[in-house]
Amino acid sequence: MEQIKAEFIQALAAATTLEALEQVRVDFLSRKGSITTFSKSADFSKMTPEEKRGFGQRLNELKNFATTSLEEAKTKLSASAPRQRKIALDLTAPGKGGRVGALHPITMAQLELEDVFQGMGFSVLYGPEVESEYFCFEALNIPHDHPARDMQDTFWLKNQLILRTHTSANQVRTLKRFGAPIRAIFPGRCFRYESIDPSHENTFYQCEGLVVDKDVSVANLIAVMRLILSQVFKREVKVRLRPGYFPFVEPGFELDLNCLLCGGKGCSTCGDGWIELIPCGLIHPEVLRHGGIDPKEYSGFAFGVGLTRLAMMKYGITDIRYLNKGDLRVNEQFATFF
Ligand code: DAH
Repeated sequence: MEQIKAEFIQALAAATTLEALEQVRVDFLSRKGSITTFSKSADFSKMTPEEKRGFGQRLNELKNFATTSLEEAKTKLSASAPRQRKIALDLTAPGKGGRVGALHPITMAQLELEDVFQGMGFSVLYGPEVESEYFCFEALNIPHDHPARDMQDTFWLKNQLILRTHTSANQVRTLKRFGAPIRAIFPGRCFRYESIDPSHENTFYQCEGLVVDKDVSVANLIAVMRLILSQVFKREVKVRLRPGYFPFVEPGFELDLNCLLCGGKGCSTCGDGWIELIPCGLIHPEVLRHGGIDPKEYSGFAFGVGLTRLAMMKYGITDIRYLNKGDLRVNEQFATFF
């Protein structure tokens, strides 16, 4: 019996595949296997009852040993089997080709605007989207119960912070931090609790900007706006300036662009042929004071480019809702690949 056990151990060690293990099982444990044959060949008539019992016990032990060893070897082999599987690698097969990403139309418009402003000595700064009520409203001369707040209803977080309603929130942040003189723009995403239509979204982009220096005038403001627009649109565009009220500028203006989608005839995007593109004005002395700037020494202008609207005009997108959809069929039409 010891001889058979030794043979079994040897055969098991040599078996490295599941098929070989099966062969070992057949060779030793099947009806014609050597353990079975051995047990049948025993001559019980010459044994005492005690010897018979001993033989039976040792035979059972051998069978159990063989069965469990085979099972264990099988489990081990199965676990490592996937690693042994051959990988089919066809070096001549054509590649799958990755999808090349592209910039969103709003990002393209933003980068272009940043470029043009940087060329005029402006810094490009980014402020937080989650903002304090102070920087978004109070510091901009919009106290708690001011009716101007109604036009900028927003999303309040549980910690009293809000989603900023305009990038103007960066004005006082920046003045406090860098002082005057300064020229900077602040592009970014804004949020309002807004009913949605072809030209209004609850999430949109603006590009705020300001210049604070000595003797800054409305003439400077208009000259800069004209230059920016002609560079961004790469052609002469028609604009009009009309008075506008914003608590943080005095005087305040609405700079409207003659709609490039309908040529000024009037459409669902613009309404009457004009798009409110850049509200602007001279910075209110109160705002300068909040920023730690003496209004007797410095003056400045501020403007808020509607970046989403600018992108719509530049790329001929008729409905603002396309821009936030994440539908690649829309985005791909404006893609420039890098
Ligand atoms: N922050 C204003 C808005 O979102 C737009 C604006 C108006 C910005 C006048 C300005 C400004 O800088 O001077 O409605």
